[in-house]
Amino acid sequence: MDSIRIIGGNPLYGTIPISGAKNAALPLMIASLLTPETLTLQNLPRLADVSLLVRILGNHGVDYTIAGKKPGDSSIAGQTVHLKARNIVDTLAPYDLVSKMRASFWVLAPLVARMGEAKVSLPGGCAIGTRPVDLLLMALEKLGAEISIEAGYVIAKARGGLRGAEITFPKVTVGGTHVALMAATLARGHTLIQNAAREPEVTDLAQCLVKMGAKIHGIGTSTLEIEGVASLNGAVHSVLPDRIEAGTYACAVAMAGGDVMLEGAQVDALRSALDVLEQTGAVVTPTNEGIRIARNGAGISAVDVTTQPFPGFPTDLQAQFMALMTKAKGQSRITETIFENRFMHVQELARLGAQIKLDGDAAIVDGVRRLQGAPVMATDLRASVSLVIAALAAEGETSVSRVYHLDRGFEHLEAKLAGCGANVTRVSQAG
Ligand code: UD1
Repeated sequence: MDSIRIIGGNPLYGTIPISGAKNAALPLMIASLLTPETLTLQNLPRLADVSLLVRILGNHGVDYTIAGKKPGDSSIAGQTVHLKARNIVDTLAPYDLVSKMRASFWVLAPLVARMGEAKVSLPGGCAIGTRPVDLLLMALEKLGAEISIEAGYVIAKARGGLRGAEITFPKVTVGGTHVALMAATLARGHTLIQNAAREPEVTDLAQCLVKMGAKIHGIGTSTLEIEGVASLNGAVHSVLPDRIEAGTYACAVAMAGGDVMLEGAQVDALRSALDVLEQTGAVVTPTNEGIRIARNGAGISAVDVTTQPFPGFPTDLQAQFMALMTKAKGQSRITETIFENRFMHVQELARLGAQIKLDGDAAIVDGVRRLQGAPVMATDLRASVSLVIAALAAEGETSVSRVYHLDRGFEHLEAKLAGCGANVTRVSQAG
């Protein structure tokens, strides 16, 4: 298994191109099941989760082709893929695939909407809390699907097709909103989704669905209205830049010091995190090219943060921000309101010398003057990148094992950091 070796102490200078967003790419790829025509996705990141979803979609009958590289394309430019689900050959999504990536459970929605039936394994995914799917199933039931659970599988049936309905989510759920949105596009009549997630990835999916012929109003707000159509068509859509990747590198620069252009990053998608980073002492400059982030030698100020649904501070940046706070001047309280049990990075950060106490849904971080490199272990996607951030500012060598977690969500992480002067290498180990 590979590990990543980091020797801390180098500031970061240069440009980091931001890839297409994983959390938009996945639902967009799944939306290809809604139409027999070709959905072309541009700027798709090269990630383990994307490759796995390709296999899952392939089982359902989706043909997948990658467009060739054009002259001048850089090695880290996103890929263009064509997805075509002319015939759905199987409405079963098996445990061995779905358990590897939670988001693949969302295939339930387009399958039942288009085929009137689906059987999908209950998901696995990152070990961050219990992460139930009750609200996703509630949405499909409201749209007329009959749901039963047998031997670890959800069976959804809507033989006469789905019908429009009013869906009110009791809490904001990104996956629930994706599922309700995809299913409602092909439901007969009018659907109203209240308390919908407003994450930019939901907006990206909605905009792609509109290109495919869906009728959706209220995009970008918490009230979505959908007028069902009989069928959807193909479309060409470019995946939006990954705000979590951009925020992660912004935390890295705030931690290690330096001056980096996050090429392609969008300010509106990242405003709350950028505000917080400015309070820590980083200098954030939006430009036409992207977001420039810099920190001089003045040190890191401690700031309290509470995770919230968009437009609040994203839970997917909580671990990275905590890494930054480990070297802040003073104490910071980081409260996690979205997922229980999303503090698995705390123990590993402590191995580098961080001082962190847990207090219910909050972590209290007392900044230390120095961190020291050590062997650490990646536990989930965002937690593992927080270890990389801490290691960039630690003295000596850190080796992060179990980097398959990183490969699920960060494209060319070592190359992007090394390109800005960090001493980061991947060590391949057989077996
Ligand atoms: C998505 C993101 C993930 C991000 C999260 C919150 C993808 C692939 N993943 O995950 O990176 O951390 O949004 O921004 O896009 N809940 C229920 N019942 C349900 C569904 C959710 O109680 O049926 C709860 C969850 O346990 C959690 C909260 O709702 O406490 C939000 O979860 P949700 O927004 O659905 O997260 P995901 O869509 O799984």
